[in-house]
Amino acid sequence: MEQGVSFDLELIRRYDQSGPRYTSYPTAVEFAESFGEAAYQAACARSNESGRPLSLYFHIPFCDTVCFYCACNKIATKDRSLAPPYLERVYRELEMQSALFDRARQVEQLHWGGGTPTFLSHDQMTELMDVTRRHFTLAGDDVGEYSIEIDPREADAATVKLLRRIGFNRMSLGVQDFDPRVQAAVNRIQTEAETMTVLEAAIAEGFRSTSIDLIYGLPFQTVESFSKTLERIIAVNPQRLSIFNYAHLPERFKPQRRIKDDDLPAPEVKLDILQSTIARLTEAGYVYIGMDHFARPDDELALAQQAGTLYRNFQGYSTHADCDLIGIGVTSIGKVDNTYGQNRRELEEYYADIDAGHLSVFRGIELNRDDLIRRDMITKLICHFQLDIRAAEAAWEIRFADYFADALAKLQGMVEDGLVEISAEQIRILPRGRLLVRNICMAFDAYLATKTGPIGFSRVI
Ligand SMILES: C[S@@+](CC[C@H](N)C(=O)[O-])C[C@H]1O[C@@H](n2cnc3c(N)ncnc32)[C@H](O)[C@@H]1O
Ligand code: SF4
Repeated sequence: MEQGVSFDLELIRRYDQSGPRYTSYPTAVEFAESFGEAAYQAACARSNESGRPLSLYFHIPFCDTVCFYCACNKIATKDRSLAPPYLERVYRELEMQSALFDRARQVEQLHWGGGTPTFLSHDQMTELMDVTRRHFTLAGDDVGEYSIEIDPREADAATVKLLRRIGFNRMSLGVQDFDPRVQAAVNRIQTEAETMTVLEAAIAEGFRSTSIDLIYGLPFQTVESFSKTLERIIAVNPQRLSIFNYAHLPERFKPQRRIKDDDLPAPEVKLDILQSTIARLTEAGYVYIGMDHFARPDDELALAQQAGTLYRNFQGYSTHADCDLIGIGVTSIGKVDNTYGQNRRELEEYYADIDAGHLSVFRGIELNRDDLIRRDMITKLICHFQLDIRAAEAAWEIRFADYFADALAKLQGMVEDGLVEISAEQIRILPRGRLLVRNICMAFDAYLATKTGPIGFSRVI
């Protein structure tokens, strides 16, 4: 498949609206509190019939300091004594969760996210992995994808060595921007040496994939300043890059109120940064995977995209499409059988549920047939920029033109604008439409049609 992405300023401006990032469909906005522990347990029982492999997500919410831009679920604290009581609940949850799944089902994917997973001490991280192995069957290093999000300020070469020893083979590093003025404005002071130490250790210890997170749209960024950061990153040649668009939603994320609107780059500057970033990364040999993600052509994400087996979940793009996902810890979201379920979002509430001997799933959704069909279409488009209409008709026993008459009508304007091409056989997103893939997916979203007014999603660009 041709991998290009082309940049059309006028089109991007015209289509710039808020929209979901489709890490799930239906999105978390549709989760209801009528879905609780009993519904989750029933889904786990059904899922055991399938024998599908498993994926485990652990949420470690703590951060030593708060970055003002941050939209993640985190708790800023310097108090390291908060970790043991949290881990104690995680261990009890692991025990309860593991009782719901056949031991024969292998864990092929495991991810620690945050917050900052390396807020934990070396002993705590070792223990967490030991307890996990006690309750679940982890696949070998050659098969399993074991990844962790690392804040280089909270890790050194010894941490990386330990992480490899306890089983991790992939990592992503939060960098955001190397410019001191930008770093000061967002309260994330991180030296280049801190980042490089971790990256070099990852290569030395045999991590299979390293990924770097950058954000564009932060205060004081310019095309020149951001390209300096980018050049330094390209020089160390990570397998993957995530270039996130800064989602500024100060009504929702309180620390963002400390970022002055006047210091933010104008929309034209943001677009210029994005354009020059894409051009430079393409020149450096990276492939645009979609939705903020770039990878080297020999990276497994790029290979999976070529092979048509790429998938998207809460951690972004993934190669493990068929796993049931178990979310462990506060706010974690799981995807089991035909459901999504989320744990309580406040620490005290999560502790209260676990201490009472219950799982902490407090809201979720059971997907109906229509949800499943639409999720399949959105996943194909967002992962592969194309959808095989005949295959969809055969898989779901539908007449595509009838079932998706609405969606096809909504796509007409985008066809005329050259974003997408539709034939009897397939829908293909063209290079001009690739940055706007979520607008295209939105045509297949049955829930958006029922919404009026602002819905709290970030803007597309
Ligand atoms: C949980 S953090 C990564 C791990 C670690 N806490 C760190 O900061 O290095 C995940 C990533 O989300 C991105 N992020 C956080 N807030 C964001 C926002 N408001 N807009 C865009 N990206 C954001 C950052 O790039 C960050 O590295
Ligand atoms: S970006 Fe990472 S370190 Fe900073 S507050 Fe968010 S989760 Fe914590």
